[in-house]
Amino acid sequence: MSNESSKSSPVIKPWEHAKAGEGSAADPLAARFVASLDYDTRLYKQDIAGSRAHAAMLHAQNLLTDEDLSEINRGLSEIESEIDEQGDNWSGWNVELEDVHMCVEAALVAKTGDAGRKLHTGRSRNDQVALDLKLWIADAYHSIDKKYTNLIEAFISLAEKDGEVVMPSYTHLQRAQPIVAGGELMAWTAAIDRAQQRLAALVHSYPENPLGSGAIAGSSLPLNRDMTAEVLGVGPASMNSIDGTASRDAGIDFVYALSMTAMTLSRWAEQWIIYASTEFSFIKLDDLYTTGSSMMPQKQNPDMLELVRGKVSGVYGQLIALLTMTKGITIGYNRDLQEDKRFIFTAYDAVCDCLDMATNIVKTTRFKGEHIAAKLNEGFLDATSLAEYLVNRGVPFRTSHQIVGSLVRKCQADNLTELSDLTIEQMANASKEFNVTFDKDVYDWLTPQNVVKRYQSSGNSGLPGFKAQLAHWKNVLANNDN
Ligand code: ARG
Repeated sequence: MSNESSKSSPVIKPWEHAKAGEGSAADPLAARFVASLDYDTRLYKQDIAGSRAHAAMLHAQNLLTDEDLSEINRGLSEIESEIDEQGDNWSGWNVELEDVHMCVEAALVAKTGDAGRKLHTGRSRNDQVALDLKLWIADAYHSIDKKYTNLIEAFISLAEKDGEVVMPSYTHLQRAQPIVAGGELMAWTAAIDRAQQRLAALVHSYPENPLGSGAIAGSSLPLNRDMTAEVLGVGPASMNSIDGTASRDAGIDFVYALSMTAMTLSRWAEQWIIYASTEFSFIKLDDLYTTGSSMMPQKQNPDMLELVRGKVSGVYGQLIALLTMTKGITIGYNRDLQEDKRFIFTAYDAVCDCLDMATNIVKTTRFKGEHIAAKLNEGFLDATSLAEYLVNRGVPFRTSHQIVGSLVRKCQADNLTELSDLTIEQMANASKEFNVTFDKDVYDWLTPQNVVKRYQSSGNSGLPGFKAQLAHWKNVLANNDN
């Protein structure tokens, strides 16, 4: 939408009649500076829904006639279809009217005259915008919720293809214990599921309807706030009119939950950037999601993953902006609060894109099982399993840890890459001082391929744990569909 006014002389804002002079529309910079129209037009549906509910309540309280109500509803429906069709080109958008609320109301007055002039009875833009934002967050939540599920489905489907590939796990980015790829994919699934649950919990945590709070103090008219709350389905009327108009907690909670999602996605992106490097070569990204270099002809850079990681900084920025915006203002509406929507929409759009992009990447990536297998013998991944073998033979864990440490040292001294390269005699000799024996079944506890089958603890990231978790998530998804 254009920030320029289409008219040559500025409008007198319908709410600035107390001014003797021209008012704030006369200076184009002031008109643009005070306006939120370049971002709040996306609230038009919520604004119209709020107005319909408010009008129905005013009518029930005998503050609107039957005819007023039907005129208002007719006008609002026409405006909604016009904006649906014309979007940014709708002729009612006028920056001198500051925002979506005033543009819709001015168009309504133009269509319906006095009926439209009565709509703002007992209402202020302060409770109106607080309501609109709550309604928008509820709608936005419904759209983004499915994106989490799509990503979880993508992780599940990759796990079904490549989940049994045996690979190293890493702590401190050093080889730790063997796992299967599916074990790690289930880790991302659990984290994304939690991010989805967190968003749901925060969005639903304080269902309150600010409408009817007016500008700050409420109204001397007999507004029925419970009625609008019921019509709008946003929860009960907020307890206090000052808090109802001053609070932006719902927006901040929303962006906090989005920030946690972005953080999780960024962490995943970082992991896969490493996995896609030549040094690791654990995964192959689809060509769709890599880019070339303008200078180096061979390059296939994981730019999409890097941008998932990069965009999180902007999302955090919006959260900090919201927290900073609210920290210094008195309890009641201050115009600073108008900026909230800019921050909330920006964070939301970025996280929506990141979730969609992550889904597309996960859907098309494959684990390079053979490449991973070729180096699986490096790093003594089975050392912990060998210590647990000794625990099963009655050796205290601290002692078995020490024994296996000395066996690793022996391998390194003898240029053996793997613990399974040691004979039973060599094992016994190297740990003579501890008086332990080894049977040939020790080899069942060695090699990453054997170890991933042995994990028993619930939630493990080896083969049994992966299979159990995969079954769990498939069940969850099947029940979601019902
Ligand atoms: N566009 C404004 C906002 O988003 C509407 C509220 C203006 N209220 C006022 N008292 N000036 O916050």
